[in-house]
Amino acid sequence: MKRILVIGSCGQIGTELVLNLRDKYGTNNVYASDILENCPEKLYPGPYVKMDILEKEMVRSFIISEKISEVYLLAALLSAKAEERPEYAWKLNMDGLFTILDLAKEGYLRKIFWPSSIAVFGKTTPKFNTPQFTIMEPSTVYGISKQVGERWCEYYYAKYDVDVRSIRYPGLISYTSLPGGGTTDYAVDMFYQAKLGNDFTCFLSDDTALPMMYMDDAIRATLELMNAPKENIKIRSSYNLSGISFTPKDIFEEIQKYIPDFRITFMPDFRQKIADTWPSSIDDISARSDWGWKERYNLEMLVKKMLDNVDVSILSSVS
Ligand SMILES: NC(=O)c1ccc[n+]([C@@H]2O[C@H](COP(=O)([O-])OP(=O)(O)OC[C@H]3O[C@@H](n4cnc5c(N)ncnc54)[C@H](O)[C@@H]3O)[C@@H](O)[C@H]2O)c1
Repeated sequence: MKRILVIGSCGQIGTELVLNLRDKYGTNNVYASDILENCPEKLYPGPYVKMDILEKEMVRSFIISEKISEVYLLAALLSAKAEERPEYAWKLNMDGLFTILDLAKEGYLRKIFWPSSIAVFGKTTPKFNTPQFTIMEPSTVYGISKQVGERWCEYYYAKYDVDVRSIRYPGLISYTSLPGGGTTDYAVDMFYQAKLGNDFTCFLSDDTALPMMYMDDAIRATLELMNAPKENIKIRSSYNLSGISFTPKDIFEEIQKYIPDFRITFMPDFRQKIADTWPSSIDDISARSDWGWKERYNLEMLVKKMLDNVDVSILSSVS
């Protein structure tokens, strides 16, 4: 039986990933862990350990003593937050990855999932239908850390046969927990403000198209990638993954169909500069052909699902 550890489990992806993994492999076989003292209530029924990924010896002894076989390493500082604390972001995003890659190299772990991002691309990358293999000159500390992480993942696979798998997630939209400080967070926030009856100020311009995805698709992609036969995983840096591409104006207009009084103002800030270096759409033919990826959610379905489920009381837990 697999014994799984999710590091960074209290975040936007981790919360939903842990719930899905527990459904599949049993609550007690999936440890949630995070630097936070307490995990979200939704994760209470299962094992939780407070652990800082940067405390290398603690992480190592936990994984070895608990006989963990798979790690999902999600702890990171995201794009906007990383620009505020570049040195710490570099340390957090890189050191933890080495701790986990080394444990696998030493034979303690059978499989690793580590997410990359569309932030690995930069101004010189083709903007539309960005290919899997292309120019990559990221200009943010976050993008640089993800690009370097990809290189190390591929290296550990080629050199030490470490079974590490990765996806370049687009911006993710979900309602279970709030996003953690990325450039695509505006899209999630728009739903909360719309449901509160507030006007919305968007930190990106109306026509900034970015690759996005509904969380259910992202979690399903993650589990499908992790369960694919090893020989099907031909890319050991990270897979491009495409869901939907939309602009702030597109999503606003779709929300307005349900909430006609909803109003928006566009006031681009420093995050616009980050978004301008990212692709507008992604070519994910490799993920489709290697392990059968196909998205299910389009913009209309995503908006309906979010408006049906966003619970504004979640905002008081962080204020
Ligand atoms: N959400 C997205 O749109 C998106 C897109 C592309 C890539 N990703 C990647 O997916 C991963 C998870 O993203 P997310 O959106 O869930 O992020 P998040 O910020 O919501 O969650 C990260 C979690 O890591 C925890 N953490 C921070 N420092 C830690 C430490 N030192 N030790 C242990 N835990 C620590 C935080 O408390 C938080 O719960 C990240 O690697 C991110 O780069 C996310």
